Amino acid sequence: MLTREQAQARLQALRAEIEYHNYRYYVLDDPVIPDAEFDRLMQELIALEAQWPELITPDSPSQRVGAPPAKEFREVRHAIPMLSLNNAFTDEDVIAFDRRVREGLGQPEVSVEYAAEPKFDGLAIALHYERGLLVFAATRGDGYSGEDVTANVRTVRSIPLRLPDGQAPDWLEVRGEVLMLKRDFERLNAQARASGGKVFANPRNAAAGSLRQLDPAITAQRRLTFYAYGVGRVEGAQLPPTQAGIMDWLAGLRFPVTTERRVVTGAQGLLAYYRELGARRHDLPYEIDGAVYKVNRVADQERLGFVARAPRFAIAHKYPAEEALTVVEAIEVNVGRTGALTPVARLKPVFVGGVTVSNATLHNQDEIDRKDVRVGDTVIVRRAGDVIPEVVGVVLERRPVPPPPRFSILEHYPVCPVCGSRTVREPGEAVIRCTGGLYCPAQRKQALLHFASRRAMDIEGLGEKLVDRLVDRGLVATPADLYRLDLPTLAALERMAEKSAGNLLAAIDRSRHTTLARFIYALGIPNVGEATAADLARHFGRLDALLAADVETLQQVPEVGPVVAQSIHDFLHEPHNRAVIEALRAAGVHWEEGGGAAVRTGPLAGKTLVLTGTLPHLSREQAKALIEAAGGKVSGSVSAKTDYVVVGADPGSKYDKALALNRPILDEEGLLRLLGDTPIPSPGGQDKEVTS
Ligand code: IVH
Repeated sequence: MLTREQAQARLQALRAEIEYHNYRYYVLDDPVIPDAEFDRLMQELIALEAQWPELITPDSPSQRVGAPPAKEFREVRHAIPMLSLNNAFTDEDVIAFDRRVREGLGQPEVSVEYAAEPKFDGLAIALHYERGLLVFAATRGDGYSGEDVTANVRTVRSIPLRLPDGQAPDWLEVRGEVLMLKRDFERLNAQARASGGKVFANPRNAAAGSLRQLDPAITAQRRLTFYAYGVGRVEGAQLPPTQAGIMDWLAGLRFPVTTERRVVTGAQGLLAYYRELGARRHDLPYEIDGAVYKVNRVADQERLGFVARAPRFAIAHKYPAEEALTVVEAIEVNVGRTGALTPVARLKPVFVGGVTVSNATLHNQDEIDRKDVRVGDTVIVRRAGDVIPEVVGVVLERRPVPPPPRFSILEHYPVCPVCGSRTVREPGEAVIRCTGGLYCPAQRKQALLHFASRRAMDIEGLGEKLVDRLVDRGLVATPADLYRLDLPTLAALERMAEKSAGNLLAAIDRSRHTTLARFIYALGIPNVGEATAADLARHFGRLDALLAADVETLQQVPEVGPVVAQSIHDFLHEPHNRAVIEALRAAGVHWEEGGGAAVRTGPLAGKTLVLTGTLPHLSREQAKALIEAAGGKVSGSVSAKTDYVVVGADPGSKYDKALALNRPILDEEGLLRLLGDTPIPSPGGQDKEVTS
């Protein structure tokens, strides 16, 4: 057990050390010890203070959280009013400001030096230190009196509770901005969305809502940040003679100051700073809404003084607002290249982010529901940088009465607005899709490129540029139209030589003879890749059998679950897609029918096998070819539908899964017994050339 004196000494050392690490972490963003070590120091502090409660001081890091919730905030008067800034919006405004400053200083010919800083988009706050100790903190309020938010401010880790020993004036009021970093804002909103809590429209609202919390424990969870930008009441200190010097001095006292601050000369220097900062605006970790220019020399500031409620020596040069209020006039949808329906709010045109905006994305139905955007609502639109404008939220107070109904995409768009095909929302998916696939003009180019791709119909020479030209000229709308193209039409396209037109026609013609698997894959059914297409071809054997299958029948295909079965069914029952399929058959696209039926007669007909480990005699390819020749199918993973698992030496996790699911297990001999006298094909099912 420590003596009281020893405890006191240890507490002081711990507090200094912890605050130093807080500073490294939260102010400099450059921690020097691991988090676990920091936690250990905090625990030691808390344990020691629990033993010696009378030694707890208000500046102890343990006191950053722990004040009880308040009933209301106390009002505090500002000894020196917290004034606001006049705004400049144009270059001319800035040039005029600089002229007024030069004239006000009585030397219109002499260039003036300015301290240029970001205009933080947060809340102004005044921090008061008495002989180095944080004694109270107040919001700006109306500029003359604000609210006492000391308990909440203590929870902000980058705000020093105590200034470095021996450097503190008798009294120091530091002014600056409390804000929430963009990343902390995103995190807070993500948590709120997950837990159904309050989602904030922007970091400033989140910061304000968090600072003006009666319960400091809530503020503590919110991760606020602070940047100092000036001083108020100061006693017992000789301040540096310039704004830039004051900022450096505050940095020396461990206050967070931005590294974006510069000293520039004249109006041209200000405008160059404005543009440079504006270009980086979206990469900064916090939001800004402008630049602030302050005459650098404090003596000059004093000579210029104030007009009304704003200084003559400073001005805020605003960036175009990124958020604005407007009204949703309609909600419509765009159909993308993949058939996804994206809801778009049609807005009463509004100037935001430097341009007039009349559309904003609503992303998908879940987003519409979450933000509860309805036609007629007043909404906040945001356009940040070059990002697509979006609806941030609804101003519920301005919702029309009686309230308009909730908006459902499927109710308003039961069919695709582009092609009239049915729209669906697949279970578990956020997007609503047009089932028009091959037929929908919005999906046309994508569908054609997929149809022609190497692993589908393999039409060599039909690339993106050519598809663009064929579709844009109205020569091709669906894949079936490809088979109607002729030499004069193709050769008439610019940049198309007769020879390549001929080559393309030959490639199209060759593609008429294909396999059922390739044909199914080429249709571009959502959720049907090459493997599933092959499964479907093998299972049904004939196209008509596939076209006739209901959702349940489709699910009998190995590895086709309810979602995929539904998606196949929707696609094949869309009349437009049916028409394209028939047109393709009519154009002479064909394959060997009935393969599926023939396969159903082999000794492994309809069986699914999984291979794992090394077999003693057969290679993987040989085993696969044998199984397929006997009518079976080899799958890559074990499921309840697996009929046999063939296990060799050093099997993988498939073996464990087989045991877990209680699937029948075979070795090579067992497999060969099942196969009976199926002849053994060579690897890959093809004859290899003998080279020696
Ligand atoms: S100096 C007398 N510097 O802007 C000068 N203010 O309209 C007082 N602000 O609410 C302000 N960043 O919270 C100054 N670098 C900065 C600032 C800044 C943001 C805010 C401040 C105040 C408003 C002034």
